[in-house]
Amino acid sequence: MLLRKLRSVALMGEGNKDQTDQHLIDFQDTNKDKPPLTAHYLKHSFHSFLFISIWCLFLFLFFWSSSTTNKLEEFSQKCDGSVSVYVYELPAKFNLGMLKDCRHLNVYTDMCPHVANRGLGQPITGPPQSSSSSSSWFATHQFIAEMIFHARVENHPCRTLEPEGATLFYVPFYGGLHASSKFREADLVERDRLAMELVEYLIQQPWWQRKQGRDHFLALGRTAWDFMRGEVDFGANSLLNLPEVKNMSVLTVERHPWEGHNQHGIPYPSYLHPSTSDELVMWQEKMRHVERPYLFSFVGAPRTGVQKAAIRDEILRQCSKDHSSCYLLKCGRVGASKCHNPSEVLKVMTKSQFCLQAPGDSFTRRSTFDSILAGCIPVFFSPHTAYTQYTWYLPKETTEYSVYIPIPEEGKTENNVDIEKELKKIPKEKVERMRNTVIGLIPRMTYMHPNSTSTSSTHLKDAVDVALEKLSNYVLNFTSSSLLPLPTI
Ligand SMILES: *[C@@H]1O[C@H](CO)[C@@H](O)[C@H](O)[C@H]1NC(C)=O
Ligand SMILES: *[C@@H]1O[C@H](CO)[C@@H](O)[C@H](O)[C@H]1NC(C)=O
Ligand SMILES: *[C@@H]1O[C@H](CO)[C@@H](O)[C@H](O)[C@H]1NC(C)=O
Repeated sequence: MLLRKLRSVALMGEGNKDQTDQHLIDFQDTNKDKPPLTAHYLKHSFHSFLFISIWCLFLFLFFWSSSTTNKLEEFSQKCDGSVSVYVYELPAKFNLGMLKDCRHLNVYTDMCPHVANRGLGQPITGPPQSSSSSSSWFATHQFIAEMIFHARVENHPCRTLEPEGATLFYVPFYGGLHASSKFREADLVERDRLAMELVEYLIQQPWWQRKQGRDHFLALGRTAWDFMRGEVDFGANSLLNLPEVKNMSVLTVERHPWEGHNQHGIPYPSYLHPSTSDELVMWQEKMRHVERPYLFSFVGAPRTGVQKAAIRDEILRQCSKDHSSCYLLKCGRVGASKCHNPSEVLKVMTKSQFCLQAPGDSFTRRSTFDSILAGCIPVFFSPHTAYTQYTWYLPKETTEYSVYIPIPEEGKTENNVDIEKELKKIPKEKVERMRNTVIGLIPRMTYMHPNSTSTSSTHLKDAVDVALEKLSNYVLNFTSSSLLPLPTI
């Protein structure tokens, strides 16, 4: 037990494996150095005295160490007090009730396997680098963050059952699943009906009326575009256009870069959902030492007719040119099965130093989070793929953890950057530093298993911990600096 803790503390430091082993050796050596007892020189009475003393010392040490251990575990499971979140018990039609019809939650896919295990999806065997006994790997669907978030907050140490003292009110509406089930529904009233009903329900609640919803929030697993129907109808509903919802905070995997003033980016879920911090630390350590023979890689498909994705054709062209430095996992109709296979995706990314993150149907990609999990430095082509999205999660200085290659203006393909040449310019030590930063981001980009008890001396903040802490600061600031006097009930 003590050894295990020592080990994880050492790993937390600079994550140097040799250093860890040194610690373990030191620990054993100190025991060896103790002089042997020369008991046979002692008289019988003294002998029994010694025996009793040692027995007492043993008992004392035993109780002392077990009480210290309990204290540590208690500490890591405790809420630090800055956040206190109340979870609404919504009528089932707004969340878990939807799952009964999981076959029809998405017009393209059967969602039943994906909503299993509270949104983690189906368990899979982890990549070869993970410990074989691990049951922390899942084929998690990219648009399912809202379910995992719900399950995590329900078990969160900062959850309160008393709304009076809550700083945050979480409204666990599965808006993304609902939006995809009614995507392009011709009858607009029908498409927006559940969002309207949610608002009707909320404004009747006393806790809503206290601050007109300013301390309330939603967490959505799909992009903001799916809830902001404009003049042109791409199939979205109007949830985020409703004036009441504009008073709330909205956590979403992709915020609207210009209009999403109340929207905050949260990570797309990847495939690792560990139950303990130690597992995360072990994975980070593996990613620091894995061989990365490829300079860069791209996992994706060409997109036709999407202007911001034109760079994809260029990437595919450059990548196919040189198979020794670029590892290509081409998706689309032929490669689709491989692209949706977490082990295949991670295999490519753990073998690469840089992972290209070209925009697709929208600015952001789940792939960004897969690459961080794999310790692969992301290369962005638009500031809206990450920089304007996940400010709660990423370092301010973008060059510390990523590379930015601007897309040339439309029609000016002669300005296309030679990606390989650009990446080779970065000095080795700089690449090493960037990779270390990326690997350091893994815990906060991860959704821990909802049943995680964080029994570890090295409690790390996960995606939900960070969201609750940042949102709480934001809301407290907002409501205290509000110019309007807030009515009390
Ligand atoms: C969490 O634990 C409970 C009780 O053991 C179990 O019923 C539930 O399925 C677990 N949740 C997940 C997501 O595995
Ligand atoms: C939004 O909040 C403000 C106060 O912050 C309030 O005056 C306004 O009526 C609220 N809007 C709705 C639609 O509840
Ligand atoms: C709080 O509000 C002040 C003034 O409105 C602002 O300068 C500051 O950045 C805010 N802090 C946070 C954490 O949002």
